[in-house]
Amino acid sequence: MPKVLVVYYSRTGNTEVMAKSIAEAIAEEGLDVECKKVVDANPDELLNVDGLVVGSPTYYGTMAAEIKKFLDDSVKHHGKLDGKVGAAFASAAVTGQETTVISILEALLIHGMIIQGDPRGHHYGATSLGKPLEQDVQRCKRFGQRFARLVKRVAGE
Ligand SMILES: Cc1cc2nc3c(=O)[nH]c(=O)nc-3n(C[C@H](O)[C@H](O)[C@H](O)COP(=O)(O)O)c2cc1C
Repeated sequence: MPKVLVVYYSRTGNTEVMAKSIAEAIAEEGLDVECKKVVDANPDELLNVDGLVVGSPTYYGTMAAEIKKFLDDSVKHHGKLDGKVGAAFASAAVTGQETTVISILEALLIHGMIIQGDPRGHHYGATSLGKPLEQDVQRCKRFGQRFARLVKRVAGE
């Protein structure tokens, strides 16, 4: 069964709601998923997963320092994550959520990860503003489902 790690930082709970909805949708697709706060995650875990989903609040239009540190620490495995599936999501108050997603995706792409856009939903990754509403949760579910299906395809299942 393919494995996925959802790792996130959340100070006031909005990104956490998104993370849990995404992880739930991934589990519903039959994957083995762990959903962790970044403080509890170790970059070594990246070696053992088929897919990585990273979430952050928008801080000045980019990812929070805690997520940047996790990605910077992942340099010890540079080259070993090539071909795994990656995705990113973000929460903002007003704007900057898409630049935050892109900032995370840049790091995942440099690791050689496979990133899938969405032609009909949020193009770059799941995003929401403020406290997630039911429609935001549904968007996160769609994002998680599409991610899980890609992981299964890449894993040959
Ligand atoms: C240091 C800091 C910088 C922020 N910068 C932005 C910003 O550039 N744009 C924005 O819309 N919201 C900004 N926010 C608001 C958060 O992105 C927003 O409240 C988010 O939903 C918080 O997610 P969380 O509940 O998971 O911590 C900022 C908040 C903090 C604390």
